[in-house]
Amino acid sequence: MLEITGIRKSYKIGKDIIKAVDNASFKVEKGDSIMIFGHSGSGKTTMLSIIGGLTKPESGTVKYGDTDLWSLTDNDLSEFRNKRINFIFQFSSLIPTLSILENIILPTAFNKTADRRQKFEAKDLLSMVGLQDKLHVYPSQLSGGQQRRAAIARAFINNPEIILADEPTGDLDEETEAEMLALCKQMNLEQGITFLIVTHNTDIAKQCNKHFVMNRGILTPKDMS
Ligand SMILES: Nc1ncnc2c1ncn2[C@@H]1O[C@H](COP(=O)(O)OP(=O)(O)OP(=O)(O)O)[C@@H](O)[C@H]1O
Ligand SMILES: [Mg+2]
Repeated sequence: MLEITGIRKSYKIGKDIIKAVDNASFKVEKGDSIMIFGHSGSGKTTMLSIIGGLTKPESGTVKYGDTDLWSLTDNDLSEFRNKRINFIFQFSSLIPTLSILENIILPTAFNKTADRRQKFEAKDLLSMVGLQDKLHVYPSQLSGGQQRRAAIARAFINNPEIILADEPTGDLDEETEAEMLALCKQMNLEQGITFLIVTHNTDIAKQCNKHFVMNRGILTPKDMS
């Protein structure tokens, strides 16, 4: 369903050139859960944002089926992203001036195919992450972990084909983390949602069916057996 071929992205800082992503290629099948390890600064977030249509690569292609993501016009790219890809960002990305419920519903506002969008209503999703009492509060009134859970709930709205998750359980305690991972696993198995997850957590690794490690921009498969 997704084929990444030879993507590269570098940043120039003063005289130095940092190869954030250096010729990464891999294939993703529907229903895969793929884990990406790697030290801080190795290029994981940059790679996810290229695959998610947020950062343009210098070269290489990201193909969802027959669609070459980076050859779409800006409008088509936003529409594609909105319909097919959801994100759990590394840092909280809730909009401070909207309530939690409004934050969760927000992605559906841009989705024209309203009929197939809601298998899971926003309220149900918030209950699934234990935030049923927090529908009408603002992000600043939630703890870091609760904000993180709201961001996880939001990723499931619109029934996405793929979720790109960047250290999705970074600031959760062990028990909540396990619950959130079980939810992701359930969505993976029941809904066939494909996951690409950046994490340092070995429990998450065990639940994933493919593993990669990123080292200074270079991505290689990792044998976990
Ligand atoms: N917008 C930018 N401008 C300049 N350099 C950048 C930019 N974004 C990332 N970099 C650099 O690219 C490299 C890869 O960054 P990236 O955020 O992808 O790493 P990461 O693997 O996600 O790290 P972490 O585990 O700390 O989140 C780093 O050296 C970083 O400093
Ligand atoms: Mg990162």
